[in-house]
Amino acid sequence: MDQAESLRELMKKQSQNSLARVITVTSGKGGVGKSSISVNLALQLAKLGKRVIILDADFGLANIEVMLGIRPKYNLADLMFKGMKLKDIITEGPMGIGFISGGTGIQELNNLKADQIELMTSQLYELDELADIVIIDTGAGISSVVLQFVILSSEVLLVATPEPTSLTDAYALLKTLNSFGDIIKDKTISLIANRVPSDREGHQLYNNFNVVVEKFLDIKLEYMGAVLQDSNLMKAVLQQEPLSVMYPASPATKSVQAIAEKIYSGDSEQIVSKGGITRIFTGIIRASLLKRGEVKNGV
Ligand SMILES: Nc1ncnc2c1ncn2[C@@H]1O[C@H](COP(=O)(O)OP(=O)(O)O)[C@@H](O)[C@H]1O
Ligand SMILES: [Mg+2]
Repeated sequence: MDQAESLRELMKKQSQNSLARVITVTSGKGGVGKSSISVNLALQLAKLGKRVIILDADFGLANIEVMLGIRPKYNLADLMFKGMKLKDIITEGPMGIGFISGGTGIQELNNLKADQIELMTSQLYELDELADIVIIDTGAGISSVVLQFVILSSEVLLVATPEPTSLTDAYALLKTLNSFGDIIKDKTISLIANRVPSDREGHQLYNNFNVVVEKFLDIKLEYMGAVLQDSNLMKAVLQQEPLSVMYPASPATKSVQAIAEKIYSGDSEQIVSKGGITRIFTGIIRASLLKRGEVKNGV
């Protein structure tokens, strides 16, 4: 089998499955709360009865593991290069959520050979069966893999704080996305205002930011909600326990709970039909094969 055939095989398998809803969490700048929000959103969605798996696609920083207090033995690279099964690289976290460490596998998505694509082919599509919702915690900034995850996910949460650099970097990310034109047209990008003193100020942050986005970009930015500044978050990180577990009634937990409920209630067929984790991975692999000239346009 060559690469193109492997890819077609993978797409065929995924079309026979029910698809997971994929939510990609991103930001312009690091350290603004992506991982904190990913973890606690996963836990709150689990509380609402969803089967949730977090994929840590932030190469290098293993902070989700620390927040969950778990140490996965294997990662995505073990599946791609060593033939490990999907189930073996999923670690169970609190409240039954699953966790997959991307490890070096995320960066390697751009360099796969046919047999490695096949290893993914035979495993990855199962993720759509195992999870109702997959949350992808991406690295910050404009690396090509982060951009591809954002471009290919139908639902994107953009996290920003009131810090000026957080907002300018978030704007830079949107501007880059804007330059992709039509392919980002159907996407929902929703802003989460993190570390704000009140819900009102979160909404204000969105309004001010969106004035600029509307004026200069074609991207439609919606408002997802605010996560309050909460000193319990730091304490939870130090204890290696998620905030939602350690402080279930704290302000930031309540904020994330409200966001989870909003996401849950938006669980419409329209969104689900655009979902699927396999579609995103095949999209990334396909783009890199096209770039390397190893497949023609119509794979
Ligand atoms: N709402 C918040 N209130 C207080 N501290 C926060 C909040 N959100 C994030 N932080 C702190 O900011 C730091 C970075 O958060 P993290 O989730 O690791 O960011 P990222 O994944 O974007 O790099 C953490 O130490 C966390 O304690
Ligand atoms: Mg992080």
